[in-house]
Formats: sequence, structure tokens, C-alpha cells
Amino acid sequence: MKPILAITASLLSLTQALPSTLEQRAQPKGLDVSGYQPNINWSSVKANGAFFVYIKATEGTTYQNPSFSSQYSGATSVALVRGGYHFARPSSSSGAAQATYFLAHGGGWSADGRTLPGMLDLEYAPSGNTCYGLTPAAMVSWVRDFSDTYHAKTGRYPVIYTTTDWWKTCTGNSAAFGATNPLFIARYASAVGTLPAGWNYHTFWQFADSGVFPGDQDVFNGDLTGLKRLASG
Ligand SMILES: *[C@@H]1O[C@H](CO)[C@@H](O)[C@H](O)[C@H]1NC(C)=O
Repeated sequence: MKPILAITASLLSLTQALPSTLEQRAQPKGLDVSGYQPNINWSSVKANGAFFVYIKATEGTTYQNPSFSSQYSGATSVALVRGGYHFARPSSSSGAAQATYFLAHGGGWSADGRTLPGMLDLEYAPSGNTCYGLTPAAMVSWVRDFSDTYHAKTGRYPVIYTTTDWWKTCTGNSAAFGATNPLFIARYASAVGTLPAGWNYHTFWQFADSGVFPGDQDVFNGDLTGLKRLASG
């Protein structure tokens, strides 16, 4: 008993002595970037307080972000926790086909403690085609197909990025993913607001599309230990 108490006491005093403890309790900030940010000064991103980044890898089964590799290695060089994301094109091919394409072009996951599970970016098409012509039931099946394929290959369920509006409109506010897939909620406001059905809390929040970092401004809903746990699986 005595040694354990002594260790606990010394850990406590060590913890109290570390100025970084307060920072670690704060919600880690991060960013997400795409081909629109080809030249990022990663030292500056790090110096401005980022802990994580999601980097666009693929879209549909035909598009790869030409800057993905340089962005990924840049983020790695400054020790950010990082992962890839896939922009869903549910009208062009199956969820399985797009998950496979994503996995083959940067979206993979490994248990190295610094790779975030891949993220599925679900939002309205740039052309404005509401829900890609899919019914809510067909959209839920598409997301399920993508998610199951990703999970079968990596052992992780992909993070689902969406807005509450998109999820309500395009999935009929399905509650089918809240128990398995972490939520990356997008809402440019001072609070996350009402979440899509199935989720009691969010894991990431994209709160602005510009700010101190290049690309979109994000925050992790937890502490640094929680962020690393998400990366570790
Ligand atoms: C990148 O940012 C760092 C830190 O802010 C700065 O010292 C450096 O000059 C920048 N590098 C370039 C190439 O702009």
C-alpha cells in the first residue's frame, strides 16, 4: 500500500506542477482541409494551437485531393493527430465502392495512436441536388454500406460529418448510427444546437469555415487524452 500511495502522491505533485495540464483539459482545437488549401504552413498551424486535422482524401470513386500526401506528411511532421475524409457522392456509386476507393487512397486506419478513423463527409452536393436523388431509406442504406465496409476493413466505424438539417432531410433523421459512429457536427454558431437523432453528444464540431487555421475550424469534444483514445481505437 505504501509504495502505491507514494506514487500517487508524487504523480499528483507532478501533475500540479505541469503548466500544460490546464491546456490538456481544454477541448483540443483542430482543422479540416482539402485541395483548396494546397500550401499550408504546418509549423504555424501547430504554433497556433492545433492538435488534430482531417484531410480530404477522396470524393466518389474518381477524385483524389492532389494535395493529400503533402498535407498528410506535413501534419505528421508537426505531430498532429490526423485522418482522411471522403466526400460522399451517393448518386454515383455504392457506399461499399466509395469506402473501398477511400481506403485505397489515404482513408485507411492504423492503431498507431495518431491516426483518426476515416470521416464520411455527408452534405448537399455543390450543384445543389438535394439528397442526390435518394430517398431517406436509400440514403440510410448507402451510409450503412459505406460504414460497414469501412468497419470490416479497419475495425473502426467511420466518423460521420453532417449538419442536423442535412441528416433530417436526407436520412429522415435516422437514429441508426448514433451507437456506433462518432458524430462530427457542422454548425456555424456559438453552440452545437440540436443534434441529429441517435446521438446524445458530438465528438467533433466544425464551428466556422475560417479563422486562425487554414480551412475549417474544428474542436474535439473532450480532452487530449480522449482525442488520443479515439485515435488508438
Ligand atoms: C511558417 O510559420 C513559422 C511559424 O509561424 C514561421 O516562422 C515560418 O517563417 C513560416 N514559414 C514560411 C515558409 O512561411
